Amino acid sequence: MLVVLDEAYCHFVTAPDAVDGLALAREYDNVAVLRTFSKAYGLAGLRVGFCVADPAVTATLRKVVTTFSVSAVAQAAAIACLEPAAEKELTDRVAEVVSERSRVTERLAALGAAVPDSQANFLWLPLGERSATFAKECEKRGIILRAFPDAGVRVTIGAPHENDAFLEAAAALL
Ligand SMILES: Cc1ncc(COP(=O)(O)O)c(C=O)c1O
Repeated sequence: MLVVLDEAYCHFVTAPDAVDGLALAREYDNVAVLRTFSKAYGLAGLRVGFCVADPAVTATLRKVVTTFSVSAVAQAAAIACLEPAAEKELTDRVAEVVSERSRVTERLAALGAAVPDSQANFLWLPLGERSATFAKECEKRGIILRAFPDAGVRVTIGAPHENDAFLEAAAALL
């Protein structure tokens, strides 16, 4: 059995007990780790990611992957992201998201919203049947959220001024 760990949001994880997927992939030949450049690296538009797994797994993946699915530009950008020179930019960007995540969570809690702890670059607001209306009202204010009708809304953490705009809307609507 193959165990696939989707580590799309791993850079934003601060929980000390989080698993180290790359260590597990090194230890077990049936563990595959998937990573994307769409989140912490900010390259969503380039559609590029990678898999770390035993050569038997990656060889099989190569047989079925769509030919030329990752452009030369995307490959060059992805490789540049992994260079030591890009490390500081990544850690700064992630640190801002993590700090803003705490700030927005605390403010929402102060507004009476029950926001579960997030280890990603987004928050979950469990608004139940109010979800669709909340998202629609936010959209009128220029804030686009992902609503899951009758369950909640997913709020991506943005730049501080964007988060402020969301918090202002949340204060008016919650
Ligand atoms: C859990 C999870 N895994 C993987 C991805 C993959 O992102 P992409 O297709 O942009 O590489 C996403 C993007 O939203 C995600 O939320």
